[in-house]
Amino acid sequence: MQAATRRKPTAFGRILVLLGALLLPLALTASGTAETPEGLPPTMGPPQGNLLMSGNQAEMWRAVRMGISGRVSILDEKAGTLVQSGGEDLRAFRNGPLSSGGGWLLLASVLVVSAFFAYRGRIKIDRGKSGRTVERFTGFERLIHWVMACSFIVLALTGLNMLYGKHVLLPLLGPVAFAELTQLGKYSHNYIAFAFMASVAVMFVMWVSHNLPDRLDVQWLAKGGGLFAKGVHPPAKKFNAGQKVIFWAVVLGGFSIAFSGICLLLPFEIHPFAATFKILNLVGFALPTDLSPLQETQLALLWHGIMALLLIAVIIGHIYIGSLGMQGALAAVTSGQVDENWAREHHSLWLAEHRGEKVGGDD
Ligand code: HEM
Repeated sequence: MQAATRRKPTAFGRILVLLGALLLPLALTASGTAETPEGLPPTMGPPQGNLLMSGNQAEMWRAVRMGISGRVSILDEKAGTLVQSGGEDLRAFRNGPLSSGGGWLLLASVLVVSAFFAYRGRIKIDRGKSGRTVERFTGFERLIHWVMACSFIVLALTGLNMLYGKHVLLPLLGPVAFAELTQLGKYSHNYIAFAFMASVAVMFVMWVSHNLPDRLDVQWLAKGGGLFAKGVHPPAKKFNAGQKVIFWAVVLGGFSIAFSGICLLLPFEIHPFAATFKILNLVGFALPTDLSPLQETQLALLWHGIMALLLIAVIIGHIYIGSLGMQGALAAVTSGQVDENWAREHHSLWLAEHRGEKVGGDD
């Protein structure tokens, strides 16, 4: 094998900055905690000559820091990467800004929900319960919802354990129990992922026609969905603008998480980033398009983590408003029957349509 030096970290570092921008400003507040190897500045010019043979230790380790690859005659070309310095950048970003930025993001989500609860309390049915119910979701709709919800929660918990477990559970459980739990979690994550993907796909087909944006959404949003004051009930069809936001976050975020997850299940096999960067470069970006399979997989891991943290933060809000936050909402996905007054206040146009009545307005 012939050793040659190759400059990689600068281009890779640029991608990390782009990914980091997604967690701004939280990631920035945490960036001071990023780990970098001592005495090795992150950006340096390309090393010259055959450094491994020069006897100059500093020069040699600088070259190592920047990545060394060679050529191999066997089929697995990845074996030609002797040292991949981008792995150090990945580790620093994952254990630094990604972990702490994500932690702050989840905390912020819980704080926003708590502050909203403190301000508004539980949103009651203004007219009180009528005692009459109407079917909101069929058994099949509820089944899909719960497959998706349960698989998401398992994926979120097992995924968070991969990211934070060594800081949170390892000190509590000790190494043996933690290792066993984490192994079980990792297998669950890999397999339950398929239930999540299938349920998101079915939900998309089932509900997409009710989630297309329309003029009513602007009106609903302008009134804050009636969430901030008693007695305000902007009209809505089957789904209001807030629910549409959740639907699209789950569909698009779920697709992105699932796709990057598949890239991790089949490491080095799928290379979406170089192709995506080529397209982004057409609209003014200057991203590297010559990425090795290893770099593609590293980027998939970071992207998977970032999108997962963002979606978990959104779903915390959804779980709150669907349970503790609003009287009468949970019944829609448990028994499937909601109180008529709840339906009139939160989905007046849907209720009217459901009963074959003439469509009414705000009340
Ligand atoms: C839907 C299909 C999904 C697939 C195929 C999938 C697959 C994977 C795989 C293979 C890993 C492990 C990477 C490793 O071994 O280092 C992983 C990590 C992770 N997953 Fe998923 N996953 C999926 C969905 C989700 C969802 C829905 C969430 C959260 C709601 C999530 C959160 C995470 C997190 C936080 C990590 C840890 C990332 C890290 O260690 O940096 N995943 N996933």
